[in-house]
Amino acid sequence: MRTPIIAGNWKMFKTLPEAQALAREIVAGTHKGEVEIVLIPPYPFLSSVADLISGSGIELGAQDLHVIAGDNEKLEHFGARTGMVSAPMLKSVGCRYVLVGHSERRQYFGETDHQVGLKVRAALDCGLEPILCLGESLEEREAQQTLSRVATQLQKGLRLVPQNEMTRVVVAYEPVWAIGTGKVATPAMAQEVHAHIRKEIAALYCAMTAQTVRIQYGGSVTPDNAPELLAETDVDGALVGGASLKPESFSGIVAFNER
Ligand code: PGA
Repeated sequence: MRTPIIAGNWKMFKTLPEAQALAREIVAGTHKGEVEIVLIPPYPFLSSVADLISGSGIELGAQDLHVIAGDNEKLEHFGARTGMVSAPMLKSVGCRYVLVGHSERRQYFGETDHQVGLKVRAALDCGLEPILCLGESLEEREAQQTLSRVATQLQKGLRLVPQNEMTRVVVAYEPVWAIGTGKVATPAMAQEVHAHIRKEIAALYCAMTAQTVRIQYGGSVTPDNAPELLAETDVDGALVGGASLKPESFSGIVAFNER
């Protein structure tokens, strides 16, 4: 039995007072039942949001992490990297989760599948649980490359993860064309890719591991489309952007899971 995980990625939105108000309203208005809830604010608000959600059962996540890879991929978590934030720093302010390889990181910051694999390893080394984000572009979908693209991202993202650590990894399938566009994948489209990801995890590890890993869907999830998407067998929650910025819509997505 996989516990659904609903995460709100606040991206580069909100000021501190707005972020605090949003966190307070989510704590007050969101009933937590058989679902895990994660808030993912921008870095400067992490500590404050950590205080506000403390004792509520809601978890904290970060949007990215930095790691320095030396020779033989020896990873360093501290160093002269102005502007960067590493896994132990995130852990020390109360994060449990961290997004890795979000499509906006890949698209605007040139993050490669190789770097994503190192970041997943860095997160696990420092006691964080990575949410590995994958998804095809519109061109890839139109060229029938969705399943192969997602499989490659998965293999490279997990290349440094042994089987016994897979219980600490969450996968998020987010078709790039659906992120922030209002164009949501149909439940059948999502289910097809999620089932494929699970099959790939079974091939990389084993069937039992594949059954335990949670796979979230992300891309224009709203309270209206969440019930159908989340009803699919292999969809274990949602990674929510735009709709996570309003307490009532985020709570509405969470509420569906509690029926
Ligand atoms: P969206 O973003 O819900 O605004 O499409 C999802 C995401 O980027 O995680």
